[in-house]
Amino acid sequence: MEIIQHDVRRLDRLITDISDASRLDAELARNVADKVDLAALLRSVVDGARGHTTSGRRLTINFEAQKLPATQRQGYVVSGHDLRLSQVFTNLIENARSFVPAEDGRINVLIRRRGQRVVVAIEDNGPGIQAEALERIFERFYTDRPAGEAFGQNSGLGLSISRQIVEAHDGTLRAENIVDPAAPDKIRGARFVVSLPAG
Ligand SMILES: Nc1ncnc2c1ncn2[C@@H]1O[C@H](COP(=O)(O)OP(=O)(O)OP(=O)(O)O)[C@@H](O)[C@H]1O
Ligand SMILES: [Mg+2]
Repeated sequence: MEIIQHDVRRLDRLITDISDASRLDAELARNVADKVDLAALLRSVVDGARGHTTSGRRLTINFEAQKLPATQRQGYVVSGHDLRLSQVFTNLIENARSFVPAEDGRINVLIRRRGQRVVVAIEDNGPGIQAEALERIFERFYTDRPAGEAFGQNSGLGLSISRQIVEAHDGTLRAENIVDPAAPDKIRGARFVVSLPAG
């Protein structure tokens, strides 16, 4: 009985994820966008993630906003849907959390301006991503997690939904590995970069 209930919960999550993905386009097109201060939004997502601790693990989540010149006080404002943007950063931080080493996990969340774009990077010290999977991880249902764990639990929809949300905001979401410039084949972790138009 307990096993069945567990499966039902997993199936329920899978269905929620799928219907979420299919509702997204319509929802994003319908809703009027607000002005969202991405630095403030990230600070609150990071605070939430820090509060969600797992016993026996050591995790440091660092947040850094590049200082803006006085003429650009509103420099981290983007036009969009705050709940959907929070969902993107929550997904990326939860992925990072699940891949960093239990004994010394490190996640860096950085925000900066690059011309007319607001750029956010989520970096971790996990195993990184195989070069041939850097694009495929954004496909629906792509997951590298162990098979037993995968059904309903991690449906492999997180990154595809996140990219869909970012693109609906005229932005981009990509993945890369963090490498040591002196030893480029040595991967130190993964970096996910979100770029959105400022304003
Ligand atoms: N920070 C990361 N480091 C290494 N691999 C990653 C990282 N984030 C994502 N991946 C890879 O990308 C795959 C797809 O991620 P995605 O978030 O779409 O799915 P998931 O986390 O497996 O499932 P879900 O998000 O639906 O719970 C992961 O299974 C993993 O293989
Ligand atoms: Mg995920």
